[in-house]
Amino acid sequence: MPAHTFHISVKDALSLKKATKNKSLPTIVVFADDQGQILGNLGDAEYLSRAADLIKQSHFKGGMGDSVTDYAIHAKDFPVVTVVGIGKLDKLADNIAKAAQAVYTAIKNTPAAAILWGDTICQIHFTQFVTALIGAGYRFEHHKAKPKDADLLEEVIIISNKDAQDDYDNALTFAKATAAGMTTARDVANEAPNLLNPSELAQKAKQLAKDYEDTISVSVLGEKDMQKLGMGCFLAVSQGSDAEGKLAVIEYYGKSSKSGKKSKLERPFALVGKGLTFDSGGISLKPAAGMEEMKFDMGGAASILGTVRAVAEAGLEIDLVAVLACAENMPSARASRPGDVVTAMNGTTVEILNTDAEGRLVLCDALCYVQEHYDARVIIDTATLTGACVIALGSVRSGMYSNDEDTLFALEAASEYTGDLVWHMPLDETYNEQLNSKVADVQNIGGREAGSVTAACFLKRFIKEGQAWAHLDIAGTAWKSGSTASASGRPVALLTQYLRSQA
Ligand code: BES
Ligand code: MN
Ligand code: ZN
Repeated sequence: MPAHTFHISVKDALSLKKATKNKSLPTIVVFADDQGQILGNLGDAEYLSRAADLIKQSHFKGGMGDSVTDYAIHAKDFPVVTVVGIGKLDKLADNIAKAAQAVYTAIKNTPAAAILWGDTICQIHFTQFVTALIGAGYRFEHHKAKPKDADLLEEVIIISNKDAQDDYDNALTFAKATAAGMTTARDVANEAPNLLNPSELAQKAKQLAKDYEDTISVSVLGEKDMQKLGMGCFLAVSQGSDAEGKLAVIEYYGKSSKSGKKSKLERPFALVGKGLTFDSGGISLKPAAGMEEMKFDMGGAASILGTVRAVAEAGLEIDLVAVLACAENMPSARASRPGDVVTAMNGTTVEILNTDAEGRLVLCDALCYVQEHYDARVIIDTATLTGACVIALGSVRSGMYSNDEDTLFALEAASEYTGDLVWHMPLDETYNEQLNSKVADVQNIGGREAGSVTAACFLKRFIKEGQAWAHLDIAGTAWKSGSTASASGRPVALLTQYLRSQA
């Protein structure tokens, strides 16, 4: 298994008392802020006073992520007490994932731990905390002969106030579903590009339908099907590769039923993901340095796959259609050239001026397909679309574009709730004019300026009047770049919370 998994539950302080009386004494985790103040008062005087002594004796400052542990080596019946610093209390909302990381580091090599949560740290933070805590155990090592030793952690109990148990239980269920979706997204995105081609990516969708056979069905279109549908932009990208392009269409029946009378999705939410299993740039070949990171260019599709998993796992009562545009962008004698003119499914002609601006080409046909076949409430696409977005926003926030106020507002709320952050970007007509082609209806690149914006403007040209739509440019957020490059699982938490808020 790629990820280290452990059992996690919410209990009240009384259960902690019972658990610590048993033979297996857990590590008790207590939070303290930068004033050395212990957060939450769960009334168990013994641990709290030990934690207070520990803070004093060790001159613990409570900086974010710092920790100090009392092993009580000679006191036989004492559990280990670890104090984890969360820094400034009023900055906690921005740091909750970091706090979870620190807790994981502090407890990963103990078999069981109880975290004194208390009421100082609210429930919104709780969902984010649990998602990040589970994510902290993530590994991708199945290609190694000798993976690192597994962490010891098996059991985590989060101690909350008794009167809020139900709320916390619901939050826990949702957080676990979200974490499962993120793990799926990361596993798929981290896979090597020779081991995950477009067909194999589409196969992951098929697997999802097997795992959730009551609520999910999947169909996969190949290049012949797409030819019939007139998806000339998609095919212009996939034609240069020996690996066939695929369009995976996933239907989730959370409101109407899959096999019953109403086996048709009712005004579904629609998700579309860019799934370039490798982006070499094509004839407009990318430079060699860092090109290996273009295996993550299917991060959009991976995040959509993960979101569907999370939604199914949480059992959200919505109807949902998700389309993965799976292709590989390669140079070859059959590859598209700069200067080629191709026709999208909706009849729009596109002049390809740079074969490396391929994401928008596979997406425009996927967007046409969704609008042709579904009466979608809203369409949200995710794509590692532009290097320009990485320059603009770095790896902190995804770029968010939309033609619909309600969708913007709801996505922004989900962004704050989950810490899976977005930033609202513009779609002014003046940017869009950069895409006017001399020979076709539109060209696939703007200019040097505002590259993330013009890419979004390109997609918008394929959205019908009155169709609510949002686009997330996740080029900077889908994976952590550099020597230990690894998929982040974003924006699964954002999308899952958004859908939950709309259910
Ligand atoms: N997949 C890339 C975008 C990308 C680059 C994501 C770096 C993450 C890191 C995309 O297909 C691409 O190549 N975009 C071009 C567009 C340009 C040719 C207009 C880019 O950003 O350079
Ligand atoms: Mn490209
Ligand atoms: Zn790309």
